[in-house]
Amino acid sequence: MLTGLIKKSVCFLFGFAIAMSARAQSIAACSEANLDGKWNVIIDWYGSGNAADIASNKQATGKDDFVEFSFDNSQTLAVPGDWNYQRDELKYYEGTVWYQRDFDYLPRRGKRAYLHFDGVSYRCEVYLNGKLLGGHEGSFTPFQFDVSGIIKRGKNLLVLKANNERREDAIPARKFDWWNYGGITRSVNLLTVPDEHIADYFIQLKKGSLTDLCGWVQLSDKQYRQVRLEIPEAHIKKVLTTDSAGRAQIDLPAKLALWSPEQPKLYAVKLYAGNDTVTDLIGFRSIEVKGTQILLNKKPVFLRGISFHEEMPQRAARAYSEADSRTLLTWAKELGCNFVRLAHYPQNPQTVKLAEQMGLMMWEEIPVWQGIQFSNPQILSKANNMLHEMIERDKNRCGIIIWSLSNETAPGPDRNATLTQMAKDARAMDDTRLISSAFDHFKYSGNQILIDDPLSESLDVLAANKYMGWYAKWPAGPGNVVWKSTFNKPLIISEFGAEALYGNHGAKDTASLWTEEYQEQLYKDNLAMFKNIPFLQGVCPWILADFRSPGRMQAQYQQGWNRKGLLSDKGFKKKAWYVMHSFYQQKQQENKAK
Ligand code: GCU
Repeated sequence: MLTGLIKKSVCFLFGFAIAMSARAQSIAACSEANLDGKWNVIIDWYGSGNAADIASNKQATGKDDFVEFSFDNSQTLAVPGDWNYQRDELKYYEGTVWYQRDFDYLPRRGKRAYLHFDGVSYRCEVYLNGKLLGGHEGSFTPFQFDVSGIIKRGKNLLVLKANNERREDAIPARKFDWWNYGGITRSVNLLTVPDEHIADYFIQLKKGSLTDLCGWVQLSDKQYRQVRLEIPEAHIKKVLTTDSAGRAQIDLPAKLALWSPEQPKLYAVKLYAGNDTVTDLIGFRSIEVKGTQILLNKKPVFLRGISFHEEMPQRAARAYSEADSRTLLTWAKELGCNFVRLAHYPQNPQTVKLAEQMGLMMWEEIPVWQGIQFSNPQILSKANNMLHEMIERDKNRCGIIIWSLSNETAPGPDRNATLTQMAKDARAMDDTRLISSAFDHFKYSGNQILIDDPLSESLDVLAANKYMGWYAKWPAGPGNVVWKSTFNKPLIISEFGAEALYGNHGAKDTASLWTEEYQEQLYKDNLAMFKNIPFLQGVCPWILADFRSPGRMQAQYQQGWNRKGLLSDKGFKKKAWYVMHSFYQQKQQENKAK
């Protein structure tokens, strides 16, 4: 069940609470204006801009006055889009950029207006007509502001201060293995909804059921009201009544074609309340674990996965468009995948929706990546905030089967306590999906690798990032390595791989040459090892395509790129791609034979 609290997500940078409502799940239904396009910008290299002046786009007055931080005749940047790829001088920029645009608005009786941001990297303050609306921390989850009392008829002045400086108390913290893209990297929309509207909703199959729908509808106002639920293709028409908190529970039998990778069936779901209508395309499936198996719609499933970052390698930039999402997801389908790990953060809403339409199950995670300051009491709140915003945004996306809490965080009292609590919080929000977390700390004993991370007790699915043959030596011949687990739970190998520069051929036994042959042999060796893991229910090579990382500066082969892609930075297939492709074809045949 999902307890869709209309959560006040508190932004730590500013202590502002912004009322989050997942109404934005159906932006199309209530988008008054899309605010993407060219925005005026001021690059504030030393962070010395005065917010009050800039937010009001202060003009010089009189002969002896002048303004230095002005949007008049300023440079522009495209929104959505990271600033790094748009200007050479911003390739490595870590600091503040002030964005500004105007927009017109025509108020209509009985309507409320929201400004909705799909993602700004990494932290921001938002001003409308010179007034601070609030702020947000975290690059990869949406936020919005109710601007009904501030927006005005005619021209409105919108200013956003974005800052992407890495900090110890941030999530991710100061070091991470991807590019520190900054800016308004995802879309901005002005939404209008009726004064009394459908603020949020959750509709999925009840945990463990193939025929019972559960969920709720939350109205913006706390009053009794009738809400109509319709799923025409399933011949469902149901009148619900909200309680004194404005919430109506959904609990009804339904005969539905279940969503699966082979048949990614989605239904038009319509909700009506007063003058408000919401339509969403929703799929219905069951995902469970049973001993060491993962069951999709009550049948064992093997996850033929691949990881990828939200980046278009050919453009060396953040992926932001539907075309970008389609490119990445089509590459995954071509490899033979039925599963994608959206690394290492909630990716674009359209990537999630398109993956679901294309029949790809998903692992979605928050960027609690390696060196997080778990001793800082704010970290649990910040991480939980991101977890809430991720689940709130995507709770109706049945393609998502796993929420993951962290990546390669070292076991320890603060980390164990924080992540154990987060696992509880995630389940309290949504008990219809599986909870996981990617580990990389294992004990070796002879040819054995032991899974003993204390966090395992709190997870449904165990996940191991293990680079045998790259960062770690083989403890024995690949076919003789044995994985031991004291937990009766399924395991996914959530990362494995090696680097290779596309087109660089040579010895298959020398890592330091970055050859395709070395990477190919390492994949063959890992597949040999996987055969000996009886509780293995999925593999997810790292990574689909070469990606940019400032930490990867080996002069001959990397030049700022992590070369672990099965595809080059131009999308060309390396030899290891074919090893993985044939493994997945074989897995698919085995699955069909069952
Ligand atoms: C880690 C990490 C990735 C990183 C990869 C690598 O496991 O999860 O984010 O890119 O290893 O070193 O290439």
